[in-house]
Amino acid sequence: MNSNAYPLHALMDITERPPNVFVRGEGSWLWDHMGKRYLDLVQGWAVNCLGHSPPILADAIALQARTLITPSPAFYNEPSIRLADVLTRLSGFDQVFFTNSGAEANEGAIKLARKYGLRYRDGAYKIITFEGAFHGRTLATMSASGKKAFEALFEPKVPGFPKAQLNDLASVERRIGPKTVAVMLEPIQGEAGVLPATIEFIRDLRRLTAERGLLLILDEIQTGIG
Ligand SMILES: Cc1ncc(COP(=O)(O)O)c(C=O)c1O
Repeated sequence: MNSNAYPLHALMDITERPPNVFVRGEGSWLWDHMGKRYLDLVQGWAVNCLGHSPPILADAIALQARTLITPSPAFYNEPSIRLADVLTRLSGFDQVFFTNSGAEANEGAIKLARKYGLRYRDGAYKIITFEGAFHGRTLATMSASGKKAFEALFEPKVPGFPKAQLNDLASVERRIGPKTVAVMLEPIQGEAGVLPATIEFIRDLRRLTAERGLLLILDEIQTGIG
């Protein structure tokens, strides 16, 4: 079957896509609508860390879907409590806030920092982020990102994200002002080309932010917990 047989026009064009329509995945492999198999080195841009459709994940999703999908976030549900408990024990952090995407997680962190600024730092709201950073595709996370390609898009951006240079503590210090509430970074910049922040830089940032009463936000959407 030719991929033109699919109603492709119903999907909004957001990027140029190859004509294959993928219908099945297993581990490292993908199959298209013609039955052709591909070794998938993309894996959903590194999100399928267990490969395509691993049985352990598929079984857990199917079992939960048959039991309860959602009672609403306004109520407790059992698996989310258990997962939050495991995550706090693994991460050493106190609490978990579940979201649907990385961008939404970062939006949550930005909102939490602004709330903290309003409550404890006389309305401070600026979050220092880094050249080359990528934090997502919502308006605020695009502003927080330091991607050149985002600069001309969807103006005006959300204000309050001055940029410093990764691994350059002095550049962070220069950006700190009375309205600064936090510093936010990826421990390894992913989209910028897999550029690690050095251990010394992260330690210095931890010290600097603690000394200046600022929050330190780590976007670990690519790197995972720690
Ligand atoms: C470091 C980082 N932050 C945020 C995001 C955005 O995550 P999502 O695409 O789930 O919104 C990504 C996505 O790749 C990312 O790599």
